[in-house]
Amino acid sequence: MSDKLFIFDTTLRDGEQSPGASMTKEEKVRIAKALERMRVDVIEAGFPIASSGDFESVQAVAREIKDSTVCGLARALDPDIDRAGEALKPAASGRIHTFIATSPIHMERKLRMSPDEVVKQAVRAVERARRYTDDVEFSAEDAGRSEIDFLCRIFEAVIAAGATTINIPDTVGYNVPEQFGAMVGRAIEGTPNADKAVFSVHCHNDLGLAVANSLSAVLNGARQVECTINGLGERAGNAALEEVVMAVRTRQDVFPCETGIDATQIVPGSRLVAGITGFSVQPNKAIVGANAFAHESGIHQDGVLKHRETYEIMRAEDVGWSANRMVLGKHSGRNAFRSRLQDLGVAFASEEELNAAFQRFKTLADKKHEIYDEDIQALVTETNLEH
Ligand code: KIV
Ligand code: ZN
Repeated sequence: MSDKLFIFDTTLRDGEQSPGASMTKEEKVRIAKALERMRVDVIEAGFPIASSGDFESVQAVAREIKDSTVCGLARALDPDIDRAGEALKPAASGRIHTFIATSPIHMERKLRMSPDEVVKQAVRAVERARRYTDDVEFSAEDAGRSEIDFLCRIFEAVIAAGATTINIPDTVGYNVPEQFGAMVGRAIEGTPNADKAVFSVHCHNDLGLAVANSLSAVLNGARQVECTINGLGERAGNAALEEVVMAVRTRQDVFPCETGIDATQIVPGSRLVAGITGFSVQPNKAIVGANAFAHESGIHQDGVLKHRETYEIMRAEDVGWSANRMVLGKHSGRNAFRSRLQDLGVAFASEEELNAAFQRFKTLADKKHEIYDEDIQALVTETNLEH
């Protein structure tokens, strides 16, 4: 099994399916360029049959991007596949991603097709996509609620028809990590020609488990994860790219593979997506939230000042922050206060003066959430005037 974990970003397609997150062609190209700088392997740029605007966006991204594969989504229908093939023509490396649902509820109630008909249509779609590119991905929509034997059957058939990536989506975010990982493992083992394709997962976050499910799948043989910047996506969103990438990177003792992502581009990419979509990032969001590398408690600040790894498992700079952040507030201690004074170039003549300033700081911190450098300058001036 390969030790490369492919990162397939679908911010521009599934991310855009977040109500209110639609993007213009120019905005999509800007985000695609940020993803290329991040060295994302595959950028899913849109769903070309959905609208002429989406077609043009996929075409524009395909024209501009050279170092990542550009992908277009298509249902397992001839017009969708032809439209995706057309939009991807300018791509240096283009992928068609075709999908059909495989769960009993979707086949019976939505498609109104028998399992045999679904397999036949999937095979036909993959064969048609292969006319445009030899990079074809097949997704079994709602695989997370599908029967394992049927999944193995359809995967074997589409791989024989030319699919090179097999994606297992947890479309409705129903799965839990141990069970989802086991399911992915069984799908790989039970598909006789599995070695001819890369197995992928695409997890939604309805139960807040998208990243955990994706990582469990990786431990069971998946070698592509589909994800989005900031976890943007349909309903509760998709697996967050930054969390998947940093979990794999930080816990190399656990994961048997590595991504090729330049993690220093993560924070700039997150800010760009938040700015364009207007979906702000919650402060306590892992990796990219404003507080992800901020320390307020005195015990933690003291520890970090003595040795960063006492309370940090990653370096802020490694994911694109300029530095970690000591937030001065009511839980902060004398060491952090002294360190901030040094940064501000303030020196007290005596320890007694420093203590007086620290007392003023504590009184102020009881009234304010965060103490800024201007507050410190003011209380230093007051202390100096008194002495
Ligand atoms: O969630 C899903 O099943 C999808 C597919 C199109 C891959 O987005
Ligand atoms: Zn999805």
